[in-house]
Amino acid sequence: MSYETILVEKKGNVTLITLNRPQALNALNSRVLEDLIQAFAAFEADRTQGCAVLTGLGEKAFAAGADIKEMVDKAGAEFYAQDFFAGWTSQIVKTTRKPWIAAVNGFALGGGCELAMMADFIIASENARFGQPEIKLGVAPGMGGSQRLARAVGKAKAMDMCLTGRMMDAAEAERTGLVSRVVPLDQLLAEALAAAEAIAAMPPLAAMMNKEMVNMAFETTLDTGLILERRMFQVLASTEDKAEGMAAFVEKRPGTWKGQ
Ligand code: HXC
Repeated sequence: MSYETILVEKKGNVTLITLNRPQALNALNSRVLEDLIQAFAAFEADRTQGCAVLTGLGEKAFAAGADIKEMVDKAGAEFYAQDFFAGWTSQIVKTTRKPWIAAVNGFALGGGCELAMMADFIIASENARFGQPEIKLGVAPGMGGSQRLARAVGKAKAMDMCLTGRMMDAAEAERTGLVSRVVPLDQLLAEALAAAEAIAAMPPLAAMMNKEMVNMAFETTLDTGLILERRMFQVLASTEDKAEGMAAFVEKRPGTWKGQ
């Protein structure tokens, strides 16, 4: 598969996807979306791959937003007719059931922040900056910023970010729960790949169901979520990997997984 705007590398059981438009601070245009849809679909279909990492090329930006130069002359009716931005949620978030991590290496603004928040979790470098500055362009988040940011950091911070357009640094992002870890820039990729390798080494059905369960917490009531959690646990309890995992613990040896 050849891509115009991203680099894709398999590193053992981990797929590394790198946004590759550093001259535009990895701004997200329609071609990037098409490339990412293909890359995530290939990752999802490949049974050798257990986790993916998404990062941006260069030291300055993960992604500085949706591509403003692509949007500047687009009429409002076209955004609506094309349901512009819908593919990010419908074709990446909803169809990628395996875990993936965003390794944020600098600016994650607008669509860049929204793309990072589509990941299962974010690991950030110390120079990372997060923001939803769309209001300064006369618009508002269009790829999930208002919804995922509010769920991640709560109303006060989300309102502050969306209404002032200010940036949050890595320390504030970690403090507010937007990111799970902050590391020096030169350790970012190694840290994200190590986390991804650890996940890829887990029983794959359990990894997918853990992801699904946590996501369910944002979609349903506590009572319904607790029932779903128990049912998913009970489904996992009937897998060969559960038998192997528990036997391996009792026998004090590492488990080996079949994904069934
Ligand atoms: C297109 C972009 C871009 C973007 C940067 N570039 N961000 N191109 N879309 N979102 C380009 C610049 O035009 C420039 O290319 C090159 O990248 C380097 O950027 P500079 O601005 O020269 O760098 P710097 O001065 O260091 O400033 C960095 C920055 C700034 C603070 C990140 O670039 C910036 O504010 N970018 C826009 C951030 C933003 O508003 N994002 C939200 C987009 S809207 P050239 O060739 O010109 O020199 C969005 C959702 C919209 O994401 C939803 C609508 C419904």
